[in-house]
Amino acid sequence: MNTSSCIGISTMKPCCRILIGYRISSIFGVSHIRSNHKIVNNSSKLHSKSKLSCYNDAKCKVIGHKKGVIDLNRRAFFASGSNWGESKILGKNKLGVNKDSSRGILVIPHVASDFRNHSTSIDSHVSEKGFESIYIQGGLNVKPFVIEKIENGNEVVKEDESRVQVNGSGVNLDILKDLNENVETESEASNIEKEAWKLLRDAVVNYCGNPVGTVAANNPADKQPLNYDQVFIRDFVPSALAFLLNGEGEIVKNFLLHTLQLQSWEKTVDCYSPGQGLMPASFKVRTVPLDGGDGTLEEVLDPDFGESAIGRVAPVDSGLWWIILLRAYGKITGDYALQERVDVQTGIRLILNLCLTDGFDMFPSLLVTDGSCMIDRRMGIHGHPLEIQSLFYSALRCSREMLIVNDGTKNLVAAINNRLSALSFHVREYYWVDMMKINEIYRYKTEEYSVDAINKFNIYPDQIPSWLVDWIPNEGGYLIGNLEPGHMDFRFFTLGNLWAIVSSLGTARQNEGILNLIEAKWDDLVAHMPLKICYPALEYEEWRIITGGDPKNTPWSYHNGGSWPTLLWQFTLACIKMGRPELAEKAVAMAEKRLSVDQWPEYYDTQSGRFIGKQSRLHQTWTIAGYLTSKMLLENPAKASLLFWEEDYELLENCVCALSKTGRKKCLRFAARSQIRV
Ligand code: GLC
Repeated sequence: MNTSSCIGISTMKPCCRILIGYRISSIFGVSHIRSNHKIVNNSSKLHSKSKLSCYNDAKCKVIGHKKGVIDLNRRAFFASGSNWGESKILGKNKLGVNKDSSRGILVIPHVASDFRNHSTSIDSHVSEKGFESIYIQGGLNVKPFVIEKIENGNEVVKEDESRVQVNGSGVNLDILKDLNENVETESEASNIEKEAWKLLRDAVVNYCGNPVGTVAANNPADKQPLNYDQVFIRDFVPSALAFLLNGEGEIVKNFLLHTLQLQSWEKTVDCYSPGQGLMPASFKVRTVPLDGGDGTLEEVLDPDFGESAIGRVAPVDSGLWWIILLRAYGKITGDYALQERVDVQTGIRLILNLCLTDGFDMFPSLLVTDGSCMIDRRMGIHGHPLEIQSLFYSALRCSREMLIVNDGTKNLVAAINNRLSALSFHVREYYWVDMMKINEIYRYKTEEYSVDAINKFNIYPDQIPSWLVDWIPNEGGYLIGNLEPGHMDFRFFTLGNLWAIVSSLGTARQNEGILNLIEAKWDDLVAHMPLKICYPALEYEEWRIITGGDPKNTPWSYHNGGSWPTLLWQFTLACIKMGRPELAEKAVAMAEKRLSVDQWPEYYDTQSGRFIGKQSRLHQTWTIAGYLTSKMLLENPAKASLLFWEEDYELLENCVCALSKTGRKKCLRFAARSQIRV
């Protein structure tokens, strides 16, 4: 079949919105299929309740672990006992993992993403084989494309009760059963954890009978869900980790593959198309009438690339999170086959191409608009916000691990290495502030014209805010929120700092310093609810000018100094990495006292985080999942170690070498100073 003509993207114009549809298959007869949050027990109920029709028999097949173990980390998968195959086979553990041991077979519906290219070229979009029936519908007037599946059918083999054949390798169910029993002997989950698991499962969204994500918030009393009934890429990360750490990989794999489908298709915002590699901020599963008007319905994936989002903000962090999650999936499940797929490799490359494209920028940090990350409305973080730099650095490190090096990728890998070195040098050197550095800035000379300038960005000392002078502790420090010509944003942004620790973007000394500062400033950054999204809040004229008078972002509310319990999991990860789990335990214990009672709010308000946020959603999924993930990470630090990075000394060497070649003494001196801080 000539599939490439089927997905001729040009025929989809003009489209304001892309719907990717998947005809409902009658064979999704697995128990508890949920469609748009309606629970049905089998495919016939699915049919009658939701009036979804089935058109083709998409085949289920076993997708399992890659045969053999490649390295130590990969081996950890077998010891950890967490993999999706296991969760399907081994039965229900105390936390409610589904079991389906009766048949001794892995039944995981194949996720349709093979329609992306199977070459390494980013220009062609499809291969000539391995398609499932998928069609892409662009806007209301565009006919959907139908791509028929060609099944090569060599991946599902049923064996006897105790062994399943997964891609040709036998998996002994008895061994996996033992592992599961170990899980069962672990301590009883608390009632709060049980409640959290129930709510997390209630938030699961299904697409054609398969779990593909979790809604942002699931408060039944919410009359105006806006887009909180969608699956957000960034919000799903803690849900994904909770599922992965609990041995449930299927939903994460489905999520990764379905969002990958959304990535590559044309999207248009007011006649302008953003880059091909852009990942949506969120997507929704919609049920719409099938063309032909016989009353049958079908499910479609409807992504939002920012064209509907408040403020039309570009979700720069989505692609970065997608890469980070892809690596986590491999590390925790041991299923490295997923990241090795050509379509997945292409997805990584598309995201990186977008991020690494040459522009007018003078800095190695990524230049973005305001609101391009978790803080997705105007908060004065346009330019080079720390959060994006930390995620960018992490995504580059993930990609370097996952990209298969060949002639087609070697230049990209070299570009990644160069960028990693330059970015870490830049952030370590110019974003870091502590008592000593602030004193240095306080005495800066300005208007220095030369390559030897000390005050490279021409920061006027007057910019040092009065709150900082008293606030900065003697010990510790942090990475500032943003750095621009003539501008340092001295606010403390929690996610960027935590993720700098997790990814080793900061030096070991800096990472330690950040945790020391959080501990020293506990009453400001944690107080009654972990953790402040940023500190301090913008007030008075500053609030009016910088937020544009945003009533949701009033001082000490929402993004403007509100407290976000979802940040707990990132804090926990950072604490475990730095050998300070007791700090995370303290924060989790405090959150535990309130979250369930307060119905799992999205955020808290006031300087000490005492009130539930003014417009806070309840039953906010990433609050729930962040809590569960924190608990599991603390219980199992070995698994936490799969999710963070240590210093990479090769990168440091690169940096020194690159700087030496320029022969600029000043750079060398700075470089040397940076290295000493390691
Ligand atoms: C708000 C948050 C954003 C989050 C979304 C869904 O817009 O600012 O970070 O992804 O809600 O929860």
